[in-house]
Amino acid sequence: MKILMVCLGNICRSPLAEGIMQAKAQANNLHWKVDSAGTGAWHAGERPDSRSIRTGRNHGFDIARQRARQVRKDDFDHFDLILAMDSSNYEDLLGLAQTDEQRSKIAMIMNFLHPGENRDVPDPYYHNQLFEEVYHMLDAACDAVITQFTTHTPPKT
Ligand code: 4NP
Repeated sequence: MKILMVCLGNICRSPLAEGIMQAKAQANNLHWKVDSAGTGAWHAGERPDSRSIRTGRNHGFDIARQRARQVRKDDFDHFDLILAMDSSNYEDLLGLAQTDEQRSKIAMIMNFLHPGENRDVPDPYYHNQLFEEVYHMLDAACDAVITQFTTHTPPKT
């Protein structure tokens, strides 16, 4: 499974989502590739926001080595699943995808936990107090993604 986490700047939410999913995949012995990107390019090349790095460290993982990048056209072929943090990221991704197959890979990450509700992971950039809440939302959503792709219904006998 190859998963791309996507937000606007790729410095606050999606780096945390990448770090959380990587830690969970490793803990579950899943050989998943996890990356993150932003729909915007303003922060390309930067490390994650210091508040996201700190939030990760408080929960036992290190995202400081990540560097921000913008979503690329070839991401839609390379990744199996492209997870948007909010509805604006989702709409932007749909606008970038070029085929039905590419569009079918895009989903809102919180829908794995609350199907069909299209809940946003709030942008914490101007709200320091939201980083911890964002972490807990992403932690629960990543668990739900792993459950969805690792739970097999046994064949009926
Ligand atoms: P992110 O947060 O999309 O979670 O990385 C933001 C980071 C930067 C900006 C907006 C959102 N910005 O406007 O620079």
